[in-house]
Amino acid sequence: MDKRYFSDKVVKWYEENKRDLPWRQTKDPYKVWLSEIILQQTRVIQGLPYYLRFTEKFPTVHALAAAAEQDVLRLWQGLGYYTRARNLHKCAQEVVNTFGGHFPDNFEDLKKLRGIGDYTAAAIASFSFREPVAVVDGNVFRVLARVFGIEKEINSPEGKKIFTQLANELISKKHPDVFNQAIMEFGALFCTPKNPDCPACIFRTSCFAAQHGLQAQLPVKAKA
Ligand code: ADE
Repeated sequence: MDKRYFSDKVVKWYEENKRDLPWRQTKDPYKVWLSEIILQQTRVIQGLPYYLRFTEKFPTVHALAAAAEQDVLRLWQGLGYYTRARNLHKCAQEVVNTFGGHFPDNFEDLKKLRGIGDYTAAAIASFSFREPVAVVDGNVFRVLARVFGIEKEINSPEGKKIFTQLANELISKKHPDVFNQAIMEFGALFCTPKNPDCPACIFRTSCFAAQHGLQAQLPVKAKA
């Protein structure tokens, strides 16, 4: 499939189908970061009330950095993975102590912060600063594997590289923020892990998986 065709079409789909989520109303890197940390391994429905409570109780990175760790952990209760909450708190303190309360404004520098890997750095860099760097999460792996027929294992280093490279070729240089939200949303709402509605899909005539009936086989994951 032509790359430009894919990008334009997924963005158009997004504009017509996106959910109204509070972290999409802001460019504030603190709030973008907070939402992405909360949403790691957590569904939107479950994470949303936590996002609202955190932004209300700690409206700025300064407020979060100054909090007692036990208050942060208490607000996190129910989300699990408590290392994430501890890293969240430590990262806020790093931003305040090392960067004067300002998150770095680019992908490479964001990755130097505690708990911020490729995915989260790409999310903040693109959503807050419009840097054209692609987010690659489970949704993105699935959409690209199916649409472009990539059979490489998504949990191998080589696979990760191939998908990341493709996503970075597809990303809109003009609206990287919208493209990244769009491909994730398409994976979350339409190109679902189980029983995707391929006959109704915008890519049905050109999607590799739909054409070959391979949607249940893609993406390929190596056994751990
Ligand atoms: N899951 C992780 N990041 C997300 C985002 N920005 N919007 C919706 N779901 C997400």
